[in-house]
Amino acid sequence: MGDIGFETKPPAKNKLFHGTFIHSKALTELEYLHNAAVAVDSLGTIVAVSPDTDLTKAQATLLPQLNWSFDDTEIVVAKPGQFFFPGFIDTHLHASQYPNVGLFGSSTLLDWLNTYTFPLEASLSSLPKAQKVYSRVIRKTLSHGTTTAAYYATIDVPATNLLADLCLSSGQRALIGRVCMDQLGPAYYLDESPAESLAKTKQCIEHVLSRDPQMELITPIITPRFAPACSAPLMKELGRLAKETDLPVQTHISENKNEIALVASLFPDAGSSYAEVYDTFGLLTPKTILAHAVHLTEKEADLVRERRSKVSHCPCSNSAITSGAARVRWLLDKGIEVGLGTDMSGGYSPSVLEAARHAVLVSRHICMDEGRSEERDKLSVEEVLYLATRGGAKVVGMEEKIGGLEVGMEWDVQLVGLHDVDEEDAEEEGNVDVFGWESWEEKIAKWVYNGDDRNTKKVWVRGRLVHERK
Ligand code: GUN
Ligand code: ZN
Repeated sequence: MGDIGFETKPPAKNKLFHGTFIHSKALTELEYLHNAAVAVDSLGTIVAVSPDTDLTKAQATLLPQLNWSFDDTEIVVAKPGQFFFPGFIDTHLHASQYPNVGLFGSSTLLDWLNTYTFPLEASLSSLPKAQKVYSRVIRKTLSHGTTTAAYYATIDVPATNLLADLCLSSGQRALIGRVCMDQLGPAYYLDESPAESLAKTKQCIEHVLSRDPQMELITPIITPRFAPACSAPLMKELGRLAKETDLPVQTHISENKNEIALVASLFPDAGSSYAEVYDTFGLLTPKTILAHAVHLTEKEADLVRERRSKVSHCPCSNSAITSGAARVRWLLDKGIEVGLGTDMSGGYSPSVLEAARHAVLVSRHICMDEGRSEERDKLSVEEVLYLATRGGAKVVGMEEKIGGLEVGMEWDVQLVGLHDVDEEDAEEEGNVDVFGWESWEEKIAKWVYNGDDRNTKKVWVRGRLVHERK
């Protein structure tokens, strides 16, 4: 792939952003900063946030304070109606499954894996094919405002390393996981032994660290696919590796009822629940991302909370492959950190915004199923945007760096534009029409329910422009 390690280097210019900035202050609260300025230094770090200041005033006061010259500072102004919003964090997706988005028929997890997923993943040992798929998935997710992605690749080492290189060269922040599986899969798509699985995992970790030693943009993540696909010795080795390296872990948990029964039959001696199986092998750490968590018992959720492991809520996937409805309010009430995952291609869409609105709708189905109609279990627009940004940042362990617009955080941001029906020369209409009477809260609700990549005009990661809608 050539030496592309330089891609971790930050942009050379200081930048001053001006306009409306919106981000989560708390789970239920968005903060709106209008006519504001945010200064981002050449390292991509936010160094000043000034509310209520027009651009000329910001230039006259902030630049001298920061010792920045007028000529060397790039100015980026949001047009009226546009707003800067933290980039989305997709806490669970399979880069390798992108070609299958929308293809699942009426399958459920275990037959879906065999019919659709394992054959596709295996085919990505062809590097030209992997290059095509991974380049596309990165472009696609960036265009939907995903600035950080927790990726599963495949079992193949060169293809996984290629995904890491492509994230670096495209500027997307990512966690890169080589999938570990030494059982359950077809013979043509399995690690040969626990030892081989461990060795290949270490090769991928070393590769990522050689490209980005400080893990500024890409981070290796230990990835046991899920308990049914990992032998006890393999999980034990991976738990040990997590402890030795203090690296994050990602896996699936309690997604589907047949899967849960399979775990109980495969691991009769490793605890009395799915969560306890992972715990037995040291895989429930504060840096573990558990995808789905649809059918957790009270006791399992307590254990997850006790271990401070995190949950990736994947509502599009849970509906598409008929897994169930994860009770997000219940998880949050327990004090478990939750983020959103697209879970492509169990999920049909690469968009975290789609996952956010689906999270809203699933929470309403939970209300209806429980025969309740009160607000309590319903997730609001503000709450799902929190999960998509701040919540996701906590899930990937980067809450000090990303997910909000504060001094000291990195500029991982999208510029969002909605269509003003009175604008004659609107460049691109998109799917969200604004009539002019809407409050900002209403504009945000319209975006969440009807927005898509047409509204994502520009995307930056660490201050570097990584996507621009033409
Ligand atoms: N469980 C094990 N592997 C997978 C996968 O690829 N997708 C989903 N949704 N669940 C899984
Ligand atoms: Zn998944």
